[in-house]
Amino acid sequence: MTDLRPSGPFRLGDRVQLTGPKGRLHTITLRDGGELHTHHGVLKHEFIVGQPDGSVVVNSGGHEYLALRPLLRDFVMSMPRGAAIVYPKDAAQILAAADIFPGATVVEAGVGSGALSLWLLRAIGQAGKLLSFERRDEFADVAQANVETFLGERPDTWEVVVGDLAEQLPVAAGSGTVDRVVLDMLAPWECIDVVAEALTPGGVVLCYIATATQLSRVAEYIRATGLFTDPEATETMIRGWHVEGLAVRPDHRMVAHTGFLITARRLAPGAMPPDVRKRALKKPSYSDVDVEAWTPGAVGDREITDKNLRKRVRDAQKAADGARLAAGDRGDETVD
Ligand SMILES: C[S@@+](CC[C@H](N)C(=O)[O-])C[C@H]1O[C@@H](n2cnc3c(N)ncnc32)[C@H](O)[C@@H]1O
Repeated sequence: MTDLRPSGPFRLGDRVQLTGPKGRLHTITLRDGGELHTHHGVLKHEFIVGQPDGSVVVNSGGHEYLALRPLLRDFVMSMPRGAAIVYPKDAAQILAAADIFPGATVVEAGVGSGALSLWLLRAIGQAGKLLSFERRDEFADVAQANVETFLGERPDTWEVVVGDLAEQLPVAAGSGTVDRVVLDMLAPWECIDVVAEALTPGGVVLCYIATATQLSRVAEYIRATGLFTDPEATETMIRGWHVEGLAVRPDHRMVAHTGFLITARRLAPGAMPPDVRKRALKKPSYSDVDVEAWTPGAVGDREITDKNLRKRVRDAQKAADGARLAAGDRGDETVD
């Protein structure tokens, strides 16, 4: 069974974040005979293995490095990306707003780089099931390599389906069998009908979307089905603070915008609360022309080039191979 939360002294195969001179960060995977070479000297991996998490180790030049296992939020921010990731601030809020619980059956699309998959896998625990859909196989490759790199192996609670959610969800999940659905894609409205079919009554659909125009379109689509509670939309802003002596103030910089969250709950078959009926009958306030305007370019979705994407796949797979190899060296990558 996958060790979702490695702990104890550092072992071969562990990823370690080293903070060296001048706060410079290096992330390494501990290998038998491995060494970190910098212009400050050489740090042998064997000096880290067996030390407790949070230790200070010294390289051949006498320079000190703080060694910590990367938190999930550190890992997702530094892993290879095919597509834009869900940032930790949004992932945390998604887990709460979509009510992801241990043992849940969760559907996610698209997988992109696998950042949200890692948070979802952690939240559903060993008894849950995550079904992740991705229509581009290169992105699915990056995501799978990233998940394997972080967890040391592919968790048996995870299934990745390559294909369009609208076509594949009815094949992969029976009617009313899914507890939660999280959509992170350009056009979530194209998938709402199959999501409504797959969700259990009372189940939650959550869409993470980048622009206000997409937000409005998916909200109207969800309303018009008459199959969900009225959708609720939020955005999450986190402002860091500088806290040092008497200099206590907000940080000068922050991540201002990533995306919006919109959630709704599946009604029981045939249930139609009065407010839902009223809204479903209302004429939409957008036209076909508006619909045509919601193209990837119009909403600022930047496409990655094929060459660049192939490089990201290679980087992610190299990291996963390293993690697997080192876990093999260790010979005990599973726990009871
Ligand atoms: C922004 S990325 C997802 C990022 C991911 N949540 C993460 O945290 O790494 C959006 C992904 O959705 C995929 N996608 C878009 N529409 C889809 C659909 N209908 N079915 C499956 N995948 C889809 C795209 O190929 C892309 O990889």
